[in-house]
Order: sequence, then structure tokens, then C-alpha cells
Amino acid sequence: EKGGYATFMEKEIHDQPHAVRDTLLGRTDEEGRLTLDELRIPEEKLREIDRITIVACGTAAYAGMVAKYAIERWTRIPVEVSLAHEFRYCDPIVDERTLVVSISQSGETMDTLMAVKHARELGALTISICNTHGSTIPRESDAVLYTHAGPEIAVASTKAFLAQITASYILGLYLAQLRGGTYVDDIKAVLKELAEVPGKIETVLERMGRVKEIAGFMADTRAVLFLGRHVGYPVALEGALKLKELAYIHAEGFAAGELKHGPIALIEPGQPVFVVVPSPSSEHGLHGKVVSNIQEIRARGARTLVIAEDGDEAVVPFSDEVIRVPATAPLLAPLLTVVPLQVFALWLSTAKGLDVDQPRNLAKSVTVE
Ligand code: BG6
Repeated sequence: EKGGYATFMEKEIHDQPHAVRDTLLGRTDEEGRLTLDELRIPEEKLREIDRITIVACGTAAYAGMVAKYAIERWTRIPVEVSLAHEFRYCDPIVDERTLVVSISQSGETMDTLMAVKHARELGALTISICNTHGSTIPRESDAVLYTHAGPEIAVASTKAFLAQITASYILGLYLAQLRGGTYVDDIKAVLKELAEVPGKIETVLERMGRVKEIAGFMADTRAVLFLGRHVGYPVALEGALKLKELAYIHAEGFAAGELKHGPIALIEPGQPVFVVVPSPSSEHGLHGKVVSNIQEIRARGARTLVIAEDGDEAVVPFSDEVIRVPATAPLLAPLLTVVPLQVFALWLSTAKGLDVDQPRNLAKSVTVE
């Protein structure tokens, strides 16, 4: 059942190309237009929405943060990400023109379910992005967009995360197509890039030997920091979460731009820092700004573990380790850059002799508030 792997988590990490491919499957017609029959909400209603709120917990909330960048970019609809357990208690601004998108692997997370119920009471349209057929959250929502990651057994989420991000891209592109606007011509180009992602995840997985080796030497590490910017920021948060969950190591993710506003004080000689570097093709010179961050922390003695695109030579002089991922569209990069961080957490947990699939104090789905 573990497909020859020692743990479910390792198997599920290797399932990721399939999880993304299967979640993309059957979403377009012969002309390459997106068709989402699962979304049983009239198109006119979806055309009228003027704000989107994403509600989720844990890893699913980080998928929501990635989704925000993509959906806003493609639709120009303002998107807010709200931790589901905060949503109900902050007097949320929601009405019948608000689309509330819940993201949940299990479909049973009580905090997320209560947020969805509250949103419906306030008159919002609700769509559930969910991995579990027939679960409660999709039943309580107006519509559902299923992720096809297959059953996820390990407590720490991996393949469901990639499938959630994929499904939110699909939703964003679908809304862009429906509403017309400037982005529509580019939808096919994004879909083409997305179709190439599963093969690129395979490539990343083939290269993970060195990450396993690095993790194997780090069992005594007390703290690890993660930096990322733009869509790399939620990836940094997810990398840190994986390490807390699996290896019980103090780990923090930061927006790289925040570094000089505080976190740089944490840097001392030998401190390991993962940096998720934006593609050199990113807009607004983001790549160069993150390369400067690497330079700054390296100058203070940090041990820099850098995740960078193939061919990005600018990072090399400041990196103790460069972990390479294939090039893709900047908004899609999280589907590749998070993989080494999952693999790192898996092998560090293993190096510490911990239970990878059943970390202490955690449950796969939390059905109490
Ligand atoms: C947590 C799980 O308690 O719930 C996380 O340990 C998960 O892995 C989070 O991300 C949300 O779960 P779900 O099923 O709603 O996606």
C-alpha cells in the first residue's frame, strides 16, 4: 500500500506528478476552453462576484495564499485569505456578490466547515476545493471543485497541497474566461505551462538525492529559517510548517522583503536558511532583490540552502547549496519549489528517528473547533 516506500509520506511525495495531472484532467473542451461542470453555480452569478474570500486551515491556507496571487492577477477580483477559525469572529464583509472558496483535503475540518456555514448565512456563494468525495464541506457548499490527489494518509499534507494549488489555478482561469477582460488571451498559454508541470515535478524528484543527504546531516539542528517572496512566500511558510510538524524543529517562514525589518537579527554564523528564489523571468526585478537577501544573510554567516531555477547562475556565489528546479511561469513555481522542502522535512524527521506519518499531537483531520 506504500508502493514500496518506507512511509506514506514518501509515497505521497512521489504521487505528486499524478496528483497534479489528475486534477488538471478533463477540465477543457475540444477548443481548449475550460469547462467546470462540477461548479453548479449559474455563470451569471459567477460573473457578478466582486470579491473572493478563501477560508482554510494549515497547509490548505497556504495553498489559498498562492491562489490569491494567481486569481487576482488573472481576474482582477480582490482576493482575501482568511484562516477559517478567524473568519467567523472578525465580522467578515461578505454579501451575495462574494465568492467564498474553502480549501480542505479532508472536507471535514470543523473550523473550515463553520466558516462555510457562516458565509452561506451571510448570503455568499460558496465553492469547496476538496479532495474527499462525499465529505461534509462539499455537501454544505453551493458547488465543489474536486482535487484528484487520491487518498492522503500521512498526517502532513503533501500531494493534497499541490492538487489544491492546481485546482485554484483552474478556478482562477475559469473565472477569467467567464468574465472576459484582458487576461483571457493568455489562458491557453497558462494551461499549456500547467500541463508541463507534472513532468517537471518528476525532474525535481529525480534530483532529491542531495536534499536527502543534507537533511541526514542536520538531525541536531535547532532552528531553520525559510525565506520567499511573492508566491515563494507561502512556499516558505509551508516549508517551515512541514519541518515543525515532522521534525519538531523550530522553523519560521518569512517574506524575504521583511528580512531587514526584523528577522535578519536572527542570523548568526551557521544558521541554516532556505531561500526560495523567484524565477529570473519574474516581474519587478524580484529575482535580484531576493539574490541581495541571500547575499545579506550569507555575509552574516548564514548557511544558505537555495532553491533556484535551472540556469540561474546569479545565486551561485552566495549559496552553500543550490537545489535546482526546472523553469516554469512565475505564478506556477510553487508546484515545483515546495517539493524540496517536503523532501527535506521527510528526511530530517527520518534522521531524528521520528514517526514520519504520525507526528506527535497531530491528527489528519481536526473535527472539533
Ligand atoms: C491539520 C492537518 O490539522 O488540518 C494539516 O494536520 C491540514 O495537515 C489542516 O493542512 C487542514 O486540513 P484539511 O483536511 O481541511 O485540508
